[in-house]
Amino acid sequence: MDQYKVYGNPIKQSKSPLIHTEFAKQTDQAIEYTSQLSELDTFEQDIAHFIKAGGKGCNVTMPFKERAFNLANKVSERAQLAQAANTLSFLEDGTIEADTTDGPGLVNDLLANGICLKGMSILLVGAGGAASGVIQPLLQSQPRMLVIANRTVSKATELAQRFGHFGNIEAKAFNELDESYDLVINSTSTSLTNELPAVPSKIFKQNAYAYDMVYGDKPTLFVEWAYQNGVKLALDGLGMLVGQAAESFYIWRNVKPDLLAVVEKLRGEL
Ligand code: ATR
Repeated sequence: MDQYKVYGNPIKQSKSPLIHTEFAKQTDQAIEYTSQLSELDTFEQDIAHFIKAGGKGCNVTMPFKERAFNLANKVSERAQLAQAANTLSFLEDGTIEADTTDGPGLVNDLLANGICLKGMSILLVGAGGAASGVIQPLLQSQPRMLVIANRTVSKATELAQRFGHFGNIEAKAFNELDESYDLVINSTSTSLTNELPAVPSKIFKQNAYAYDMVYGDKPTLFVEWAYQNGVKLALDGLGMLVGQAAESFYIWRNVKPDLLAVVEKLRGEL
């Protein structure tokens, strides 16, 4: 059986083994996927051992995403842009390929929920690591425009410059937000502390969509607030988690699993 792992520190909380095991069942793939704690000073050694033992690939989570990127001798364009990787593939000839699937994970989840980004106006709130990983895949879906708004506006401006050649992208401060959008994505960490970013409620068009990258065992504050302001559908980040795993699974196995069934199963276990 082909072996895969997820490395992180801490790792106990990882849902990746469960998700990939579900994908494998669903698609009849003979794989084994387990989680592995890596110590801060042994990550590279751990990966080398796994490759020697015949491992086919791994996911990498905090705090090793930059080190995983640096380990690779072949990197995807999106990993290059992020300077970080969450998916490594170990090829027969010794090549280590790195990719990052968080952005495609978000787009996969939006598509699985029937949200087609082509022609949409999108507002991305936040400009940290979570935001920078999703900008290119969002722009590749050909929205009409993407606005990035951040509490610290200089970070939004830097991202708009870095990704400017991929599409129509603009940076704004929260207090400059005077338009409504078809889709509003919250990439800030505010839901983790039960807060809202200080953005006006008029950002939501009537029947807009909302997406919070955070998830929990009940709707996040942002999801609730979006519904109070007339959105048609507000999703949390559980689907993005499953979506990024699905993209890794596709890279390794060349099969696309069904996301929604796995999201539902995980939701029941939160
Ligand atoms: P991550 O990797 O999760 O994106 P990060 O890189 O630390 O983490 O970024 C956190 C994001 O949440 C940033 O956009 C941050 O805004 P600032 O750049 O202004 O710090 C945003 N954020 C955190 N707390 C916030 C709050 N209370 N209101 C608005 N934005 C907040």
